[in-house]
Parts: sequence; C-alpha cells; structure tokens
Amino acid sequence: MRHVVESQQFDRPLLERVFALANEMREVAASGGNTLLAGRIMATLFYEPSTRTRLSFETAMMRLGGQVITTENAREFSSALKGETLEDTVRIVGSYADVLVIRHYESGAAGRAAAYSPVPVINAGDGPGQHPTQALLDLYTIQSELGHIDGIRVVMVGDLANGRTVRSLSYLLALYQDIEITFVAPPAVGMREDIKEHLQNRGVVFSEEQDLRSVLPTADVVYQTRIQKERFADRPGEYDQVRGIYVIDREAMELLPRDAIVMHPLPRVDEIRPDVDDDPRAAYFRQAANGVFVRMALLKLLLAPEA
Ligand code: CP
Repeated sequence: MRHVVESQQFDRPLLERVFALANEMREVAASGGNTLLAGRIMATLFYEPSTRTRLSFETAMMRLGGQVITTENAREFSSALKGETLEDTVRIVGSYADVLVIRHYESGAAGRAAAYSPVPVINAGDGPGQHPTQALLDLYTIQSELGHIDGIRVVMVGDLANGRTVRSLSYLLALYQDIEITFVAPPAVGMREDIKEHLQNRGVVFSEEQDLRSVLPTADVVYQTRIQKERFADRPGEYDQVRGIYVIDREAMELLPRDAIVMHPLPRVDEIRPDVDDDPRAAYFRQAANGVFVRMALLKLLLAPEA
C-alpha cells in the first residue's frame, strides 16, 4: 500500500490486518505511545475544516513518536491563496515530510495529489468524494461493538448525496457477506447512482426508504449523518427543505433493538438529540476515539510495514 486514496483499494485480508493492528495500537496508546516512527514527519494539509480527522491523525503520529507539520486552513493560510496548485504544493511538502494527510474541497483531489507526491498521500476527505480512513474506523467500530460484520443490517440516514463517509463505507461493506443496507434520505440528497450500481454489481441487498421509524426495529447499525450545509452554499433554500427531517431522539431509540448501535461520523448538528448520548447503544463517541488507533495502524503500514 503506497497511498490511501479510496476505499476500493482495500480487500478483506488488508482490512483484517488494519483491524488487528488497530487493536495493538489501542494498547500502545493506552501505555502512552512508543517510538516506532521517531524521526519521521507527517504533514497535514487541510483545505476544509476538521476537528476529528486532523487531530486524530496528529495524535496518532505523536503516539508513534513522530512529528507533525500542519496547515489547518490551507485555503487561506497557505500559498494556495496566491494561486499555487495542489500539484506543486504536494511536490514541495513531500520534500519536507514523510507522509501527507490531505483534506480538500474537490472530489478527486487526493488522487491528483498522490500522482505528484514523492511520499505517501492519505485522503482525509475530498469534497463529496470519499473519506476512506473514516470508513476504516467506522468498520473497525462495527467489528469492535458487534463482534462481526457479515450479516448485519445497516441503515444509513441523512445527506447521502454529499456524505463522503457513507460512500466510502458502502464500498467497504460490499466486501462482506449477507449485508443489507437501507438508505433513508430526503429524495434531493439520496444515495448517488454510482454507489447503488456498485452494490448491485457486488450482490449487496439494498433499499431506499422514506420512513426511518419503520426500519429501526430490524437495524443492527444506524449510521446517522449531518445535512452538509456547506455543500448548499449557493442554494440556502434547498438546505432548509432537507434539514431536520430525520432525527434520532429517545423515541427513535425505543424502536431500536437492544443490541443495535447508533453511529455518526460527527460533527452533529441536531440530527441526534443530546439526551440520546448516555444510551449505551450510542457508539459515536467511541467511534471517534477509535480513529486514533486506526490511523496509527495506517501510519505504521505506510511508514514502517516491516517493523
Ligand atoms: N468525521 C470527520 O471527518 O470529522 P471532522 O470533519 O471533524 O474531521
């Protein structure tokens, strides 16, 4: 594995290796870290806002003894503002650092960066394209919480058209047996055709529903997502039409099986009510914490695979 650009790069043996490593990294982090990547430098180039992805990658690198250079608002605070291309930026920063973690506002930007970078590139989210490391930590969370992935019923809810996390997760779920996926979204932000075609080609059973409450009683995983206001910047009226329709509240939780889990890539706005947080089935904060272990595993695989 040279770069991490999209979920389609992964197969089950590689996923199992990442998850086994993530379990080891949980122990490493609990003990304060190690020096596996001492002397190595990770650059985080973020052209879009982030809390979890950037800080968990930086934590992961530091727990492994490496160092970090960063530009957290690269759109304004890097030479991108002067007109420098992404291609030139990654050539330059790739001569300073050993790995680049890039979040960009354009779909496909990570792939472009990887084509020019002299060092590994990790896609930390490219516009409405993909967010493969989020999908890895999502799947790792499902494995950790439920003990298995084969045979699960997943309900994906919210802004499925603009949500890169649900796109990347769909590709990974399609690698497992007897998965059933239900998409619940306002029609204007329903799951895109390319993902539905991929699932169809892989023989994954999926359906589209408008009534969230009717599908909760048979769910193993409810994957809630935020309506992405930033993708409606030039269409504020459309945002108002699709927000606030599907909400996980205490009443919704009563419909959910006792051993199901609720996930969310976060940040949330109002689509999961805060009074759900203390329900043991609310897995989203544990999910976010798992990001550090999975990203430690990826950094090891890219920078020290033989160690
Ligand atoms: N889940 C996720 O990508 O969160 P951030 O936007 O805070 O990185």
